Amino acid sequence: MNVFLNIWRRKSRLTRFLVLAIATLGILISLMLVLPALAQQQVKITVMMQALEAAQWQSIEEKFEAENPDIDLEIIAAPNATNLVEDLYTSAFLLGDTPYDLVYLDIVWVPKFAAAGWLLNLNKFVTENSLKGFLKGDLEGGKYQNKLYRIPLRSDGGMLYYRSDILKENGYNPPDTFDELIAISQELQNKGIAQWGYVWQGKQYEGLAAMFVEILEGFGAYWVNPDTLEVGLDSEKAIAAIKFLRSTIELGISPPGVTTYEEEETRRLFQGGETVFLRNWPYVAGLASQSDIAGKFALKPMVHQPGAKSGACQGGWGLGISATSKHPEEAWRVIEFISSEEMQREFVLETGYLPSLRSLFTDPAIVAKYSYYPQLLEVVENSALRPPIAQYAQASDILQRYLSAALTNTMSAEKAMKSAAAETRRLLVR
Ligand code: GLC
Repeated sequence: MNVFLNIWRRKSRLTRFLVLAIATLGILISLMLVLPALAQQQVKITVMMQALEAAQWQSIEEKFEAENPDIDLEIIAAPNATNLVEDLYTSAFLLGDTPYDLVYLDIVWVPKFAAAGWLLNLNKFVTENSLKGFLKGDLEGGKYQNKLYRIPLRSDGGMLYYRSDILKENGYNPPDTFDELIAISQELQNKGIAQWGYVWQGKQYEGLAAMFVEILEGFGAYWVNPDTLEVGLDSEKAIAAIKFLRSTIELGISPPGVTTYEEEETRRLFQGGETVFLRNWPYVAGLASQSDIAGKFALKPMVHQPGAKSGACQGGWGLGISATSKHPEEAWRVIEFISSEEMQREFVLETGYLPSLRSLFTDPAIVAKYSYYPQLLEVVENSALRPPIAQYAQASDILQRYLSAALTNTMSAEKAMKSAAAETRRLLVR
């Protein structure tokens, strides 16, 4: 250091001035060149999603960033229950300047978010041709008053999982009706072969309403008719549907704790070998295939009453753009990339979720890994809807409250369904 200082002091003033001037100019020029590049890199696109998926989308996020160096895609992890994620997005929008450019939307939030003006109309980004590959139900679920607000990324439908090994060893065919499900469960439990017969989502949250739609359909009942807004919750068939669920607890085929379970608790019981039957979404197949019960389970459409049909609740997730995003063009580039056939194929192969593009259900690479996908296409194309209305969150809240009261025995099934129907009617008249 001292050597440099001595050399520096021996230079004339003019030389010292020139050296300093050239150095400063050099720094300025480099800054002018580097700053715009840095500024470009700073387009940050933020989205929030349930923690389980935030981790699963990671590798696609990295791919996107590698191909789009001017965009920094940030995925923020939220709780896994859909209604908690909805609450977080809702408070962000109500507070005004939402930090999210993209909204990862459950199919049932679209009418509410669109009616509130929180989402950008996506029609200007798409053509009829660019949309024609998507599953009809998933695409329709992204529309509100004929405008498109959400591009579907992955479809979903509820179904029945069963331990194919146990049924086979004991001479049973998989059940088609509610009564068969109960009978097989009880027999296996009585023989000490199964700890629990049937496990489902009974906690007071959105998953309960989604699951119940399937039981309603299986009893030939309905929640709300979206065309007439007629409420069907107090019909005899709807009351029979809730009585069926309650009987699974009373008969001991479902654990008493089932009224506190979300999807993940029930998946763990199934994977742990503690139950023969499970109601859940397709994501379970991917995870259970890497567990101790790999190769020992299968899935089928939900059971139903003789004469009625199987109900698969139409679920699914997609991306919309916040109306207040300062970077809608960049946000759209994310949507285009992630929903492309190539990325969906990769995501599906990695996770076992259902794609939103119809062709992927029969894609050779996907069918080679998941032979049951062509059958799942039939399930999701015949699914039962939760009411696609702007007041959906409130309607679901009412149903969840009364279902929970009936399931935990604090209200009779009749009283609960009558009150739920009356409150829903008041909501829809408002
Ligand atoms: C799944 C479905 C979603 C539903 C949720 C309920 O994530 O895709 O539509 O609301 O489960 O827990």
